[in-house]
Amino acid sequence: MPPPSDLRLLLVAGARPNFVKLAALVSALAALPASDAMSPPVKRLLVHTGQHYDNALSRLFFDQLGLPRPDINLEVGSGSHGSQTGLVMQRFEPVVMDWKPDAVIVVGDVNSTLAAALVATKLHVPVAHVEAGLRSFDRRMPEEINRVLTDNLAAWLFASEPSAVVNLRLEGHPDERIHLVGNVMIDSLQRFLPAAKKSGALVAFDLLPGSSSSESTAARPFALVTLHRPSNVDDEGRLGALAGALAEIGRRVPVLFPAHPRTAERLRAFGLSANFGDVWDREQRGVRLVPPLGYLEFLHLMSAAACVLTDSGGIQEETTALGIPCLTLRETTERPITVEEGTNTVVGLDPARILAAADDALSGRGRRGRLPPLWDGHAGERIISILLQDLSGRRDPAKVFRDPAS
Ligand code: UD1
Repeated sequence: MPPPSDLRLLLVAGARPNFVKLAALVSALAALPASDAMSPPVKRLLVHTGQHYDNALSRLFFDQLGLPRPDINLEVGSGSHGSQTGLVMQRFEPVVMDWKPDAVIVVGDVNSTLAAALVATKLHVPVAHVEAGLRSFDRRMPEEINRVLTDNLAAWLFASEPSAVVNLRLEGHPDERIHLVGNVMIDSLQRFLPAAKKSGALVAFDLLPGSSSSESTAARPFALVTLHRPSNVDDEGRLGALAGALAEIGRRVPVLFPAHPRTAERLRAFGLSANFGDVWDREQRGVRLVPPLGYLEFLHLMSAAACVLTDSGGIQEETTALGIPCLTLRETTERPITVEEGTNTVVGLDPARILAAADDALSGRGRRGRLPPLWDGHAGERIISILLQDLSGRRDPAKVFRDPAS
């Protein structure tokens, strides 16, 4: 019998949250048993689009997540949506043509996700979308456009929560393509939490009481903040109102605010940095603005915070997995399970509502929630197993690749 031919999987990542998801897939691939007559050898190519390029948003994440260096970096950098998406497409196309993957795996909802899915599909390479089906139903969010279009292109739709399965069915995607597999971000969280707790981040930010520097001591109550959505940070009035609310919370507890480069730049440009300091005040209060943190340091701080305020998608899920109350500073969420079962409250942008919810969380009345189904650390393995079964012909490929309209 001829030896089975290689199976070639090409994985794409571009921006910070992608790397955390990628780590779960790379680790599942690394854990595959050696190939035999039934399972062909699997080759993988790791492509970084270069959408995020700063050390703090990219290299540090690769290092801390134990990811191998990307085989190829497309170095697209920042730009408008059109130019960034276009440049990924232009530079990714020859890679797919040269390497001839059996499947391209894309994750999340960033511009790189959609660009890579478009290129692969037009070259007749099937696409697997990890984190399919999430919907905020707000088409003004660039991520929503990326999600809807990527799902329309993908042959495999890997969903992290039941609402995503419902959304995909309502959009007419056939059941054969939809797989509820759990959450790859939580795979990484569970794997790296023990290392994160040794990161020293609580000590580094003076968040342990008294002079204690033992990380086993409970942290003083503090709030952790991230903001980066264009709709929140590009509008002076909105960012000003949020900055005011944070300053108010900072009168009660220390507030740590690791700022995305875009946010730091806007705070400076709008003259709002005066609301913040780079150290705590004498009573150990106030809002401390710091550069973006590594994955391990941020995870450590999240796991010890009294509450987290954010407009990120992934952090809503991570806080649910950690049992830490999360206040989402947006009007919608594409991750409703974090509200229904987890610790998330979508508080919107009204400062009075934010302050009331923060007050609840800081007084111990925040939501505790429970872990959603299949958020068990094995989502990456499920995804790789389904892909390999389909690609090695053990499931009927006609079912997977059939056009939904046919
Ligand atoms: C992108 C994703 C968003 C994700 C976020 C995580 C899209 C449409 N948005 O948003 O879904 O939640 O990443 O961080 O894909 N910049 C740097 N250094 C970098 C990268 C960016 O300074 O390494 C600055 C640049 O000023 C750039 C701005 O951040 O113009 C925006 O970067 P971009 O990648 O376009 O989008 P994000 O806002 O990071």
